Amino acid sequence: MVSRRVKDLQYAIRDIAVVAEEVEKTGKTIYHLNIGDPVIYDFKTPNYISKALAEATFAGQNYYVNSLGVPALREEVCKYERNKNEINITPDDILITSGVTEGIFFLLAGLLENGEEILVPGPTYPVYLNYAQFFDGKPVEYKLMEENDWEPNVEDIRSKITPKTKALLISSPNNPTGTLYSSKNIKDIIDLAGEFDIPILSDEIYDQIVFEKQYTCPATLSKDVPIIGLNGFSKAHLATGWRMGYLYYSDPLDKLTELKKGIENMARARLCANSIAQFAAIEALKNPGPHTEEMVTKLRDRRDYSYKRLRQIEGLSCVNADGAFYLFPKIDIENFSKWKDDKEFVIDLLRATGVCGVYGSGFGTYGKNHMRLTFLPDLEILEEVYNLIENFIK
Ligand SMILES: Cc1ncc(COP(=O)(O)O)c(C=O)c1O
Repeated sequence: MVSRRVKDLQYAIRDIAVVAEEVEKTGKTIYHLNIGDPVIYDFKTPNYISKALAEATFAGQNYYVNSLGVPALREEVCKYERNKNEINITPDDILITSGVTEGIFFLLAGLLENGEEILVPGPTYPVYLNYAQFFDGKPVEYKLMEENDWEPNVEDIRSKITPKTKALLISSPNNPTGTLYSSKNIKDIIDLAGEFDIPILSDEIYDQIVFEKQYTCPATLSKDVPIIGLNGFSKAHLATGWRMGYLYYSDPLDKLTELKKGIENMARARLCANSIAQFAAIEALKNPGPHTEEMVTKLRDRRDYSYKRLRQIEGLSCVNADGAFYLFPKIDIENFSKWKDDKEFVIDLLRATGVCGVYGSGFGTYGKNHMRLTFLPDLEILEEVYNLIENFIK
């Protein structure tokens, strides 16, 4: 009755929410540290962007728009990316998508079939794994080294390239570890991709949510290796529910012409992205406002507090996050002996305390024995959460 394709799809970040709902029915307060959505905490979509959305609907812009995106938005995105990352692109290199998620869906649909491979970081954002499998491809995880602040190891990536490798994905800052890849690693990865003639996909959704270190855009460092960047309005512009994103092709040697055409076919087949959100996105880019910077300032304090508390809890260890809004502590499962694995630990923690994190194995092979906790909630809530985790473990 149901296809294998959808039957086995798993998404730990939302799957754990089902258990949380069950626990909530017993009257327990749930602390949602499982979802990376700033808008459900004390970060709100700026009024001027909401106003632009409302004005678009009242102005009657409620029709199907161009499948590739409203031309004025493609123009603004192009200007924005060109200025920010010093790359040579035109509005024709921009495709507006329903969030980065749809961009990933389109790209993996366009790149993979019959067991072809894509290299993704491990631990990884599970959507890359899901969609690769959905299109009969095979996600191959390259290892982020926890002992080296979760940086990738270029030799490990090299050892995993095969004749079936169709693309290599960089996710910096990474979800779930918060790692910002160093410029040197990015450069080495680009050189490696060039050596094997593989394009790079670069998920840049957290590029503006970085703390001490400087963000490096892969396309800025690439002379001729094609890079497809993915970004959007969910995180930096606090509009997760609007489903508004884009991808850009930085492809100086025109190696992606065929892929780009195929993806345009795909975009036409789904008609278009949300029209009124596109008009609001134009306003967000033209007039960026202080909200992103204010969010980063608040998040830095919340990260510092969470990191300090996590390090004080016996049986947990943690690498600090350079960006995004997650910490990914390691759970000393072997020494605890009470829990069989990270999933059992996270579900037991949820049932006992109401604290809802995501089990690390939901982020691929290298996520095992970890859990992901977002530090989006305010300091008062975080204090309660870490007291609960500390007592639970004691
Ligand atoms: C790495 C990464 N990429 C993409 C997304 C989804 O972005 P969007 O809301 O634009 O679909 C997320 C959401 O958490 C993410 O963590």
